[in-house]
Amino acid sequence: MTPPIEIQPISEHERDVLWRYLQFYIYDMSQFTGARPNQGVFAYGPFDAYWHGDERRSAWWVKLGGEIAGFALVRVDDQDGRREIAEFFILKRWRRRGAGLAFARALLARWPGPWKLHELANNGGAIAFWRCVLGGFARYREVRRDHPDGIGRIEQRFDVS
Ligand SMILES: CC(C)(COP(=O)(O)OP(=O)(O)OC[C@H]1O[C@@H](n2cnc3c(N)ncnc32)[C@H](O)[C@@H]1OP(=O)(O)O)[C@@H](O)C(=O)NCCC(=O)NCCS
Repeated sequence: MTPPIEIQPISEHERDVLWRYLQFYIYDMSQFTGARPNQGVFAYGPFDAYWHGDERRSAWWVKLGGEIAGFALVRVDDQDGRREIAEFFILKRWRRRGAGLAFARALLARWPGPWKLHELANNGGAIAFWRCVLGGFARYREVRRDHPDGIGRIEQRFDVS
């Protein structure tokens, strides 16, 4: 049985810890993105932006029994004012126990208002996951968009009330 999840904001003094978990995530996603490490490190351009005290960006741990089980990066898109979960990761050990679903819904419920999500079109597991998160939670519109990198994106738009 999955223990109840705990959600905690990631503070700046944990920045290096998040960086290491982010590496696991980018590596995991590289099967879909084709990202390659440079000297063993994956780049992540927007990382610094999460530590400028800008309330439009925040980083979150999800913990199970006090142990880090994953993280999420949340931001507001200045172009359209919609909030989005930019990155979302559950460690393999904790997958398929409902932790991701509980974490995602708790984050979405924190900020009522306009949201969007997007997944790589070749990441079928993530698409199924987000449809499951939104099903019965928020009515959403879904579109598929082309992307210059050649991998399409599936995007959901919805309002959280
Ligand atoms: C996608 C991810 C966040 C799912 O986390 P999780 O904690 O395993 O998800 P949950 O256990 O809460 O899943 C809830 C439901 O979503 C669906 N789902 C989750 N992962 C799935 C997968 N790999 N394939 C198909 N459906 C999936 C299922 O319906 C699942 O319910 P079930 O287990 O009763 O069938 C996790 O696999 C992950 O971190 N993957 C790598 C990073 C990634 O792809 N992030 C998303 C970027 S958009």
